[in-house]
Amino acid sequence: MSIGQAPPAKTRQEAVEQSSLAQIGDVDIDDVLDYVHADLKRLPDHMELYRRYLRQRWDVYELDFTQDVIDWRTRMSQEERDAFVAISSGFHHGERQVAVDLPVFMLGGTEESKIYMSSQIEDEARHTVFFDRFYREVVALPGSTVQEVLDASYPYVSETFVGPFGLLAYQADELRRDPEDLAARTRYGTTYFLWIEGVLALSVMKITLTYCRTRKFLPAYYAGFTATCRDEARHVQGGMRFLRDAVQSDPSQLREIHETLRTILSMNGAVSRRLALEALGWTPEEVRRLMIRQLSMKLSDVGIDLPPDIQQMIQRIEPELAGG
Ligand SMILES: [Fe+2]
Ligand SMILES: [Fe+2]
Repeated sequence: MSIGQAPPAKTRQEAVEQSSLAQIGDVDIDDVLDYVHADLKRLPDHMELYRRYLRQRWDVYELDFTQDVIDWRTRMSQEERDAFVAISSGFHHGERQVAVDLPVFMLGGTEESKIYMSSQIEDEARHTVFFDRFYREVVALPGSTVQEVLDASYPYVSETFVGPFGLLAYQADELRRDPEDLAARTRYGTTYFLWIEGVLALSVMKITLTYCRTRKFLPAYYAGFTATCRDEARHVQGGMRFLRDAVQSDPSQLREIHETLRTILSMNGAVSRRLALEALGWTPEEVRRLMIRQLSMKLSDVGIDLPPDIQQMIQRIEPELAGG
């Protein structure tokens, strides 16, 4: 390969697959998003995802935020810092909530899925620590415990966070009564794996990581959040496999997916204040298109069709950013 020539797609996918934490800072976020979708048509099984987890697990304490602190204090404008905190606080709280809401989902399903789910719980806990470190060391929020730092970032959380994460908390409570209830698992899986991870989280990753990469800011945040996105590839693939298998084993589960999407899309956009996306180089229309694309790609790849009323709701999606 000559210098300056973009590496071929296969090599880029291998780079995403195999990078260590020290190498992943060179990986482009678009290649990680392609990696999320590359396997969706085939959908790896739980033990394959678990083996991949063991290879890709990274140590959140290896990140060095020294340069990020300099960038945050001296190179980013107040407007950029405000927009960044407004978007990432939904993720900080989202990671914490999915980490504590996932064990109830792990209780149901096959033994293979329980083994795999233990790795996703560990991922989500590590992502919570990643944001805890970022908020303490770079943003310099006060607090000596994980809870205190969460409390300090709470005022920045957008009110749209309440919709999908409130719904997930409700669905986790419902599942706690009977962890084997397939319809309750499908509703929970639609909110968590399809909407929160597959649409909201991947959109935040694309927006904040493109900003970091084009401005050459926040290298440890970039490395840690890109590694988080690679973890999300496993979560989304495992989640889409669950939804596809649920519908194949019982076609009435499709109705549960549709009803849950109607609930989610009805709540979407119920906001009284807008995120200042422009500070990070994005217009609301671009974010809308990004979210529609993230949702459509997953549904079409796993063969989940939507009735016209939901398709119309999707075209009217309002920019909403959180994740987990
Ligand atoms: Fe996740
Ligand atoms: Fe996560």
